[in-house]
Amino acid sequence: MFKLPNIFAVTLLSVAMVSGVVQADGHKYNLGAPASADEIAGWDIDIRPDGMGLPVGSGNALDGEAEYETQCAACHGVFGEGEGRWPVLTGGEGTLSDERPVKTVGSYWPYASTLFDYIRRAMPFTAPMSLSDKQVYGITAYVLYMNEIIEEDFELSNENLATIRMPNEDNFYVDDRPDVKNPRCMADCADVSSMMLASSLSGVTPIGHFVEGADAPAASHEGQHNLETQKEAKRKAEITGEEVSESLSAEPAMLSVQAQAGEEVYKGACFVCHGSGLAGAPKVGDATAWVERVGQGMNLVISHALEGYSGSTGFMPPKGGRMDLSDEQVTNAVHFMVESSH
Ligand code: HEC
Ligand code: HEC
Repeated sequence: MFKLPNIFAVTLLSVAMVSGVVQADGHKYNLGAPASADEIAGWDIDIRPDGMGLPVGSGNALDGEAEYETQCAACHGVFGEGEGRWPVLTGGEGTLSDERPVKTVGSYWPYASTLFDYIRRAMPFTAPMSLSDKQVYGITAYVLYMNEIIEEDFELSNENLATIRMPNEDNFYVDDRPDVKNPRCMADCADVSSMMLASSLSGVTPIGHFVEGADAPAASHEGQHNLETQKEAKRKAEITGEEVSESLSAEPAMLSVQAQAGEEVYKGACFVCHGSGLAGAPKVGDATAWVERVGQGMNLVISHALEGYSGSTGFMPPKGGRMDLSDEQVTNAVHFMVESSH
C-alpha cells in the first residue's frame, strides 16, 4: 500500500498527542536528551562548495590511482567508464542537451567539494565511510584527473579544493523567480478552518474544487462530479490493481434522506481514504468491508467516525481529520457510506 497516508495518520495522531501534552504540562515534552558535541560531529560531515567542512589533509592522483583500482574500478571501470550498468564517472562532455545526456562527475557535477563529500560519505558502495581522509583526497584527485580537470601531480588539499572549477559549474545558478506567484492576502482572506486537504494525500490530482466556507466541492461542478469521482477511483484502481466498486453510481433514490445529505460531506472529507480503501479504510461499495462493522450497531460505527478509531486495519482520525464538520454532517456521511456499501 501507499506509505504516505500512514504518515498522514501518524502525523494527525502525534499532533493530537503533542497538543495534549502541551495543555497538560506547560511547554515540556520530556522526550529525548540534547545531542552531545561528539554525536553532532559524527553527523556533521557535509562539505560546502567553498571548502568549509573539509578535513585538513591532501593527496594526489598518483597516490589515488592504486587505491581507485583496488577499491573502485571493479564497479566504475579502470577509466571511470563504468562496468556493466554501474555508474560512469568520466566522459559525457557535450551531451547534456542530448536526448540521453551522460551525466558524470566531469560533464555534470558543479563542484569538486561534492565529489569529496560523496566518496567519503558513500563509497565504496559496500563499505561507506571506510576510507581515511588521505585516501579520499587521493581518490578524489584521481577521479578529477581522469576527467582531465587537474594534472596527475596536483596536490589536492583542504586549502585548494574549493579553487577547482568544474566544467559545468556555470550551468548551475540560483533560480531567482518567485516560488509563490500570488501576492499575500492581507484582508478578507479565506477562513483557514474551512480549507481542506484534498487528495494530494494520495498523490493524485485533486478530485474536486473547494470553495471558501463550503464543506464540499463547489456546487457548479455538481453534475459532473459523481462521474469524475468514479473515473478517479477507476484510474487509481488501475494503478493499484484494486477492484473498482461500481456502487457509487447507486441511484440517489435508494438512499435515505440522511444519506443523501451526507453524500457531499463524504466526497469532500472521506472519499480520499474510503473511496479506494487507502491506509486500511473500509472501502465504500465493498460490502464485506462493512458488514461486520455495521453488525456492531450504527451507533458504535458513528461514534467511531466522530471520535476516531484505531481498529485492526488502520487509524480513523476523529471526523476524518475535519474538526470543522458538525456531528450531524459526519453522521450523515456515515449513513451515506453504509447505505452505499450493501
Ligand atoms: C560495489 C560497486 C561499487 C564500488 C566498489 C564503488 N562504487 Fe561508487 N557507486 C556505486 C553505485 C551503485 C553508485 C550509485 C549510488 C546511488 O546512486 O545511490 C555509485 C556512485 C558513485 C559516484 C556518483 C556517480 C554519479 O554521477 O552520481 C561516485 C563519484 C562514486 N560512486 C565513486 C566511487 C569511488 C571513488 C569508489 C571507490 C572508493 C567507488 N565509487 C566504489 C557502486 C560502487
Ligand atoms: C485519513 C484517512 C481517513 C479519512 C479521511 C476518513 N477515514 Fe474513516 N476510516 C479510516 C480508517 C483507516 C478506518 C478503519 C479503522 C480500523 O477499523 O482499523 C476508518 C473507519 C471508518 C468507519 C468504520 C468505523 C467502525 O466502527 O468500524 C467509519 C464509519 C468511518 N471511517 C467514517 C468516516 C467518515 C464519515 C469520514 C469523513 C468525515 C472518514 N471516515 C474519513 C480512515 C479514514
